[in-house]
Amino acid sequence: EKGGFASFMEKEINDQPEAVAQTLLGRAGLDGKLQLDELRIDPSQLKAVDKIIVLACGTSAYAGQVAKYAIEHWCRIPVEVELSHEFRYRDPIVNANTLVVAISQSGETMDTLMAARYAQEQGAKVLAICNTNGSTIPREADAVLYTHAGPEIAVASTKAFLAQITAAYLLGLYLGQLRGNLFTGQIRDILADLAKVPAKIQTVLDDSDQVKKLARTMADTRSVLFLGRHVGFPVAMEGALKLKELAYIHAEGFAAGELKHGPIALIEEGQPVFVIVPSPRGRNSLHAKVVSNIQEIRARGAKTIVIAEEGDTAVQAYAEHVFYIPETPTLLAPLLATVPLQVFACELATAKGYDVDQPRNLAKSVTVE
Ligand code: F6R
Repeated sequence: EKGGFASFMEKEINDQPEAVAQTLLGRAGLDGKLQLDELRIDPSQLKAVDKIIVLACGTSAYAGQVAKYAIEHWCRIPVEVELSHEFRYRDPIVNANTLVVAISQSGETMDTLMAARYAQEQGAKVLAICNTNGSTIPREADAVLYTHAGPEIAVASTKAFLAQITAAYLLGLYLGQLRGNLFTGQIRDILADLAKVPAKIQTVLDDSDQVKKLARTMADTRSVLFLGRHVGFPVAMEGALKLKELAYIHAEGFAAGELKHGPIALIEEGQPVFVIVPSPRGRNSLHAKVVSNIQEIRARGAKTIVIAEEGDTAVQAYAEHVFYIPETPTLLAPLLATVPLQVFACELATAKGYDVDQPRNLAKSVTVE
């Protein structure tokens, strides 16, 4: 049942092209009209939404952060992303025009369930993005968008994460269409780019030997930092979380722009730092800024491990290792940039002899607060 892989985790990492393809399958017409699995909210209410709050924990919350960038850009609706356990205890501002998007692989995470219930009590509508059919969170939600990643057995989330991000993009396109923020042609172009993602994930997987090789040389590493910017920021956080969970190595993700505000003090000779570099084709100047961050940490002795877009030669001079991902629009890049980080954590943990499917102290679904 592990399909020839040594662990469920490895299998699930390799399932990702299919997981994303399944989540896209039959969902969105070229006009962006999304087939939601269950819709107990009137579309006119969705049109009136003036704020979205994404509630989730752990990896699912990082999917929510990616969703924020896409939905705000496409739909011009403010999106807050909040950890479910923080939301409920801070007297949040929620009303009938708030759409809460509860993201949960298991659909049973107690904190997310309780936060969604609380939001409903305040009059908000809840839309669940969930991987487990019939679980509690989607049962109680007003609308449901299932991720079709298939059962995720390994405790650490991989394919569910990419499927959650994919589902969130579809939701963004749907809201953009419904509210008239996106033209049909724009939606069609984004859907066409999304349709190409599964094959690109496969390319990343096929090219992952060097990542694995590097991971095996780093079994004695005590700390790894991850830097990212824009949608690369949640990817950095996710890369750090995978390494903590699986390899029990201290890891931190930072927004690259924060470097000078503190984290650069951590850089000393030999400190490994992953840097997720935005596409040089992006219309903002973020690529140059992140490249200059790589220079700064390299000058202080960091071992720089760079994830960059194919053809980005600017990073080579400052990178000890570069792993390339295929070209894709910036907002969709997390679906590719995350993959080498998952492979790295899985391989490093395996090299240390750890059980990657059942990391110590963790449970697949956290049904207590
Ligand atoms: C990380 C991981 C956890 C879960 C979190 C939320 O690899 O698996 O951080 O993402 O416990 O779980 P769900 O998505 O089931 O609500």
